[in-house]
Amino acid sequence: MLKQLKPVFTVVLNFRIAFPFLLLIMVMAAVSSCYYDNEEDLFPENGGGCDTTQVTYSLSIVPIIHDNCLSCHGNTAAPIFGSNIKLEDYSGIKAKVDEHRLLGAISHQSGYVAMPLNDSKLDDCKINTIRAWINAGAPDN
Ligand code: HEC
Repeated sequence: MLKQLKPVFTVVLNFRIAFPFLLLIMVMAAVSSCYYDNEEDLFPENGGGCDTTQVTYSLSIVPIIHDNCLSCHGNTAAPIFGSNIKLEDYSGIKAKVDEHRLLGAISHQSGYVAMPLNDSKLDDCKINTIRAWINAGAPDN
């Protein structure tokens, strides 16, 4: 009787030994499958399709600020939600650039309040676009 059951015990025993390894392999597979989901990693040659060579204030910067910042930093919202920092016009944005507060805030560097406040970081293309504009001297073009 016991002899007949022996193969069953062996299988169960082997499984108990193998289980942690199986689990490890599954976890590793799960982790590695996420790894290349990032567009920038997949297309590093063209920076993930992000063109930062044609950046202008009106066509590149305004839409980013408009979509992500004016709910708090618009002229009427700023006194209530945006610590009275106004980013609706060129002069307001340029002031933050000149104070060296803009790029640090949006790239979540230490020593800056991370922007957009209580929201996820802007995607890399938007941050790189703003960086390129600042590096070009933040022109009003
Ligand atoms: C939900 C509201 C909200 C949004 C959205 C928001 N901000 Fe702010 N922002 C604030 C508040 C409030 C402060 C003041 C924070 C403080 O001093 O503690 C601030 C501060 C800042 C500062 C100064 C940070 C520093 O460390 O000196 C900059 C620059 C800034 N915001 C830029 C932006 C930009 C650019 C965006 C859009 C990408 C944005 N903010 C989106 C509310 C917001």
